[in-house]
Amino acid sequence: MREQRATITSYPDGPLVVRGDIDLVSADGEPIERKRRTIALCRCGLSTIKPFCDGTHRAAGFQAD
Ligand code: FES
Repeated sequence: MREQRATITSYPDGPLVVRGDIDLVSADGEPIERKRRTIALCRCGLSTIKPFCDGTHRAAGFQAD
């Protein structure tokens, strides 16, 4: 049986998309609930629902490789 590994994909001018099982925790080590198996983590710093992306990066013109 093949081991299921999580992947993190950096999208140009957008978030980090995490697919697979991971433990998402705050800086204090507290678990952060995730409602989906695939999540997008904010990379621009402007999301109102951090650590998740809310799409604000588009309106802000965030640019990154
Ligand atoms: S990367 Fe999408 S809101 Fe920050």
